[in-house]
Amino acid sequence: MAVERLQKILSNAGVASRRSAEAMIVAGRVAGNGKTLDTLGARADPEKDEITVDGTPVLRERYRYVALHKPTGVLSTTSDDRGRPTVVSLVDIEGATLRPVGRLDLESEGLILLTNDGALTELLTHPRHEVPKEYLVAIDQPLGKKGRERLVRGVRHEGERLKADSVQLVSPGGSSGDPDPRWLLITLHGGRKREIRRMLSVVGRRVVTLRRIRIGPLALGTLAAGSSRELTPEEVEALYEAAKAERKQSRGSMAAAAEAPGMAFPHPHPIAIDGPAASGKSTLARALVERFGYVLLDTGLMYRAIALAALRAEAPASDAGACAELARGGLLRLAVGGREVRVLLGEEDVTDLLRAPEVEGAVSDYAAIAEVRRELVAQQRLFAAQQPSVLVGRDIGSVVLRDAPVKLYLQASEEVRARRRGEQAAEWGAQQSASEAGRDISGRDTTDSTRAASPLVEPEGAIVIDTGELDADAMIARAIEAIEERAT
Ligand code: DC
Repeated sequence: MAVERLQKILSNAGVASRRSAEAMIVAGRVAGNGKTLDTLGARADPEKDEITVDGTPVLRERYRYVALHKPTGVLSTTSDDRGRPTVVSLVDIEGATLRPVGRLDLESEGLILLTNDGALTELLTHPRHEVPKEYLVAIDQPLGKKGRERLVRGVRHEGERLKADSVQLVSPGGSSGDPDPRWLLITLHGGRKREIRRMLSVVGRRVVTLRRIRIGPLALGTLAAGSSRELTPEEVEALYEAAKAERKQSRGSMAAAAEAPGMAFPHPHPIAIDGPAASGKSTLARALVERFGYVLLDTGLMYRAIALAALRAEAPASDAGACAELARGGLLRLAVGGREVRVLLGEEDVTDLLRAPEVEGAVSDYAAIAEVRRELVAQQRLFAAQQPSVLVGRDIGSVVLRDAPVKLYLQASEEVRARRRGEQAAEWGAQQSASEAGRDISGRDTTDSTRAASPLVEPEGAIVIDTGELDADAMIARAIEAIEERAT
């Protein structure tokens, strides 16, 4: 067996999804032959090396691949707390824990793939590798040429752009019959939630039946609803090939930049921005993500969210163990929406609560806890490895992304920053005078730069920009110039 990336071995072994496996690696929970392997590039030979997670050996399963014709009324999940049937309950493969690849709505039927091969799952569900899928769709009223063309051009629904690759009329009776304007063959790459139903609702049509009949090279064929079959090795190979071919087609787009962090294509990433409170980091970061098409993670929001969770749980900052548990427990989640990240505690989006005075007053103390930082740093590294991004904080260039190809350090006098923070506070709806803001800023600066764990410092190799002397446009121009220099 060839040497493979650690995250692939873990996901293939059914330990965790590729993403969760990456989180485990960077958190230092994974070892090979007793040695901790905590970098995402680490490789091992799953046949020869003993891989452990938290000290427990990982067993390797044989890969199995199953095509199922999901009937309507069956969930595309592995289990359901209400006891409803799931795609997994319809397939019985001894000795293997299969998971569905992607999903099909409860009311939809058709082809769904199940496997324990985490690498194929990851490949087929990655937005950049998604293979075209075909759906046979019956709608309540005929849809004319104009409506069909609109779907191919793309429509907007709840802020999202939904688009089909092609929409053709078909005959429900097979190729010999006349096309029926209420029967459509829709091909699309996207896998957004209820995408077909939503796009048809924009053109005023309701879906009556929806059946997926093809996933890339794999056709549903004559498989009856509720039945399944194992794929042949040739079919598995064809799926791998199709997904990889998709990647080639998208090369040259922004998405391709996600492939190799640090690559100077089309621009270097990730970008690290540090500096004291109100030094202009957010303004600059927003401009950069717009300019380069990256995603912005304001890591201060993560520390704020832990502070909020701790205040709610009445865990004081002196109880480092309890605070670390809040950071570790999978409670804090990041949701990418557009160019910025929103922060969730469990299912609750708390982003808009994180500037509240109670959080503002407490966050520095919680951010000083080394164990909390360790957890959040692991999540931040993982985030930066997953997409071209700009990370903003206090220790990004010095600790989190020490090897970032671009590090920016912003500074401004305390006076300038106090004035800015006073203005921002008014924007966030809080009443704060410039002198109060000044006291806040100076208190926070002291805690952030004198703490033992990752104090605020100017990172080695950083481009320092004094934002007190520059207006926002000049600051942004200066940073872009520095980044473009790095790209050439
Ligand atoms: O940037 P901000 O004001 O939202 O940050 C909130 C607090 O979190 C601040 O006290 C500094 C701390 N922080 C940190 O210690 N490390 C980071 N990477 C980001 C923020």
